Amino acid sequence: MRAYDIILKKRNGEILTKDEIEYMIMGYVDGNIPDYQMAAFLMAIFFKHLNNEERANLTEIMAKSGDMLNLSKIEGKKVDKHSTGGVGDKTTLVVAPIVASLGIPVAKMSGRALGHTGGTIDKLESIPGFRTSLTLDEFFKNVNKYKIAVVGQTANLAPADKKIYALRDATATVDEVSLIASSIMSKKLAGGADAFVLDVKVGSGAFMKDIDSAKELATAMVEIAKSHKKEAVAVLTNMDEPLGTFAGNSLEVLEAINTLKGNGDKKFVELCLTLSAWMCYLAGKDSYEKCHKLAYDSLKHGNALEKFKEFVIAQGGDKNVIENPEKVLPISNKYIEFKAKNDGYISKINTEKVGIACNYLGAGRKKKEDNIDHSVGLEFFKKIGDKVSKGETIVKLYISENSAAEIALELLDEAYIISDEETKKLNIILDIV
Ligand code: URA
Repeated sequence: MRAYDIILKKRNGEILTKDEIEYMIMGYVDGNIPDYQMAAFLMAIFFKHLNNEERANLTEIMAKSGDMLNLSKIEGKKVDKHSTGGVGDKTTLVVAPIVASLGIPVAKMSGRALGHTGGTIDKLESIPGFRTSLTLDEFFKNVNKYKIAVVGQTANLAPADKKIYALRDATATVDEVSLIASSIMSKKLAGGADAFVLDVKVGSGAFMKDIDSAKELATAMVEIAKSHKKEAVAVLTNMDEPLGTFAGNSLEVLEAINTLKGNGDKKFVELCLTLSAWMCYLAGKDSYEKCHKLAYDSLKHGNALEKFKEFVIAQGGDKNVIENPEKVLPISNKYIEFKAKNDGYISKINTEKVGIACNYLGAGRKKKEDNIDHSVGLEFFKKIGDKVSKGETIVKLYISENSAAEIALELLDEAYIISDEETKKLNIILDIV
């Protein structure tokens, strides 16, 4: 086999065999295929795409390029949740304890912030003492005892995806359905869960800007799961505005705790209950409707909050964060405000720019090696459809001395459009696949 022939075959729109895909992927991982040939191969896929079988094969090959986690030491059916990435997306911090409080094991490997989106691991690390790397034994023990553990991904989880993703990032080949779907699902399959709930974000802050392409991605991921004999449900959710009230690490933990105490943003709570209910349903507990009620009750009666406390203590975090989050979490007391320049209605938000503004404050990283500042972030006072008066605060920026606050303000100014006409508020749940 020659890389040249395989690239040519895909460039001409032909279907690749599993062996051909494996030759390219593993050859690249081993260093036998150079960047320029892999880049050409990715570009050929970008234009000619992959069919369902090719996608399933690519996913399996990438998953098996590293460790395949065996979760059989954890009792019960394991359901994982994945978000395709958004701004202010702290859902795992609420969904995981809700689901665990219903007796369903949540054995979660989460990622860090990259690009304009945040990562659960960085958020959890804003809790003093919290350990996001546990040994595999500790991980299994915690899930069996408390039904919940959340850790960072091991270095050897789908290493082919890691190497290829970096190349895609540099060669304008990220936003292709097969490549995104196989990238995400390879890590999910390697993570070892039995079933998956996929939160596919749609809109200005998501990879998929419109509902049709999001549906295509959702369907591709569900099909990949099915072809590996795993169940999956995809929930398409709105990312045309930031999720909830805060973006930024400590601030999002604060919001998650407030939500678990019953004081959550309405749409954020709706999303958390929907995702929790699907996880509970896939775990085989009951019908979707009954699972939704169970999730609602867990939140309402404080069971999920208790579970979150257990989880924080089990992973070494300061338990006082539950009673006094604002004292325990590092939250900057320095702030500036982004205010409305005229009267009207918020008619559009470029959410990706909002995420980038948050990064300029120091909440995210441009490169993997960058440090993040847990204390900074954004508080959202107005969403799409809200009325604003000139001079009213739209966003509060929690800043530190290293924040590029002026750039963040400029980005917010570009991101928020105020118009004279009344604009409809957005629904959070758009579709289910
Ligand atoms: N997230 C991933 O893990 N991979 C992609 O390709 C896009 C988003």
